[in-house]
Amino acid sequence: MARKVTKAIFPVAGLGTRFLPATKSVPKEIMTLVDRPLVQYAIDEARAAGITEFIFVTSRGKSALEDYFDCNQILEQTLEEKGKDDLLETLKATNMESGAIAYIRQHKALGLGHAVWCARRLIGDEPFAVMLPDDVIAADKPCLQQMIEAYEETGGNMVATMEVPPEKTSSYGVLDVGENIGQVVRARGMVEKPSPETAPSNLAVIGRYVLRPSVLYNLNQNKQGSGGEIQLTDAIAEDIRNGVPVFGYKFDGQRFDCGSKSGFLQATVAFALARDDLRDDLRQYLHDAVVTGQAAQ
Ligand code: G1P
Repeated sequence: MARKVTKAIFPVAGLGTRFLPATKSVPKEIMTLVDRPLVQYAIDEARAAGITEFIFVTSRGKSALEDYFDCNQILEQTLEEKGKDDLLETLKATNMESGAIAYIRQHKALGLGHAVWCARRLIGDEPFAVMLPDDVIAADKPCLQQMIEAYEETGGNMVATMEVPPEKTSSYGVLDVGENIGQVVRARGMVEKPSPETAPSNLAVIGRYVLRPSVLYNLNQNKQGSGGEIQLTDAIAEDIRNGVPVFGYKFDGQRFDCGSKSGFLQATVAFALARDDLRDDLRQYLHDAVVTGQAAQ
């Protein structure tokens, strides 16, 4: 049986330029989706999948992200004194066990593969997950949990995948599909951001990975790939060439690209509509805005 996955890497060193000026002082990962920072969704998903060690690869200007994970005792005490039990529960659910989080600095922006490689000493010789918090996935069973359950059957490396319009392949890692085994596909190869003309398929890699430590050894070479960056996709593709299987997992759920403004807005609406306390007001507003064009007046 495949070894249990208990460690996850969260690459959060990006500058978030698409959200300037907000990201001038606020790390993108703590921008708010309804009432929770983006990164909390990834943490909750990881926990549901059995992850107990959380490794953040950060950069300059991310201290607000580190502070977010501290226990705020004064706030907890105030809520307790005021009898605000619901809020206290919500707050306590974000607390992390002492020692569960580690931060590693990526000292130069050399690409996603390099960011993951920066965490190699904390991973050691174990399988591990990588979660890109920009990709928010709404699902009944959290996406990483679906993947780890599948990985326990298959072993090898596993990446989340979904079909994208063929003209969008140049925004993603793309799988060259070999065997198709229901929700799991076996990859023959993987290419980072191919043009639609050269893309081997329209099955894109989404930001959830369950990887073998061999991917970290492959990254030791620090080879530059697409866009002059050290690409995680290339290191996974090298495993395929070395005979280590790589599977794509067609997850159940809806993915939002919260690295883009439009994806972030869509996620905000979708997550708000899923909430009992917000649904009715928002639905009315959206109806007015879309159907009668009377919103925000
Ligand atoms: C990264 C990966 C890419 C993957 C994508 C998913 O790209 O390099 O392979 O398909 O995440 O969101 P980025 O969006 O950081 O350019």
